[in-house]
Amino acid sequence: MTSDGPRRIIVAITGASGPIYGIRLLERLAAIASVETHLIVTSGGRATIAYETSYALPDVLALADHVYPEHDLAAAISSGSFLTDGMIVAPCSIKTLSGIATCHDSNLVVRAADVVLKERRRLVLMVRESPFHLGHLRLMTQVTEAGAVVAPPLPAFYYCPQTIADLVDHSVSRVMDLFGISDSTQARWTGPAAAIASSRAARRRADGHDDTAPGDETP
Ligand SMILES: Cc1cc2nc3c(=O)[nH]c(=O)nc-3n(C[C@H](O)[C@H](O)[C@H](O)COP(=O)(O)O)c2cc1C
Repeated sequence: MTSDGPRRIIVAITGASGPIYGIRLLERLAAIASVETHLIVTSGGRATIAYETSYALPDVLALADHVYPEHDLAAAISSGSFLTDGMIVAPCSIKTLSGIATCHDSNLVVRAADVVLKERRRLVLMVRESPFHLGHLRLMTQVTEAGAVVAPPLPAFYYCPQTIADLVDHSVSRVMDLFGISDSTQARWTGPAAAIASSRAARRRADGHDDTAPGDETP
């Protein structure tokens, strides 16, 4: 999309639980010189950053190349003529999902997402709620029909995560993959042999052993 310049990614942090996903995404994108980030944090997102993380808001905002107020509907990213590679909403609340599904462009997050969809660019929504009722599922169907990718931050265990940071990084990696952006943090499935070796090593560490006698291990 922006072939002669940096990859431009819009990031939005909304008021669903898990602003750490957006923060970690920003940290990792900030370390990639060829990526330029454009950030919106809703008032809900500001609240959950305060409730759920130890990050100060100015430090989060400082991770992005450009920051926009939630209600600045004249911002560059509210126009399709401003070229971007797409947008990631991390995490995405049901309220924002609903706004995007119904094109209710009342704030810059929903407007920018609507622009990304109308320009046929990539929109990834890390929708976070549980359990879902039928209305939530219908909204997710609607945005998928319009071209968005619904990517809830569901933990995976096939790569033997050891920490919460590992779980966060894995969800962030999968979203970065959707944009073809990678870094050294990506944990990838390389087949059952590697997975079994990794889970055995984790078990040995958990048991306080450096090694296990051959034959002790059950995959
Ligand atoms: C601590 C906390 C956790 C929340 N978690 C969720 C959640 O996981 N999913 C969700 O859809 N809303 C959640 N909410 C409610 C949203 O913040 C609220 O609906 C807000 O209006 C969303 O607005 P926004 O999308 O413009 O940020 C949470 C609120 C708080 C205070």
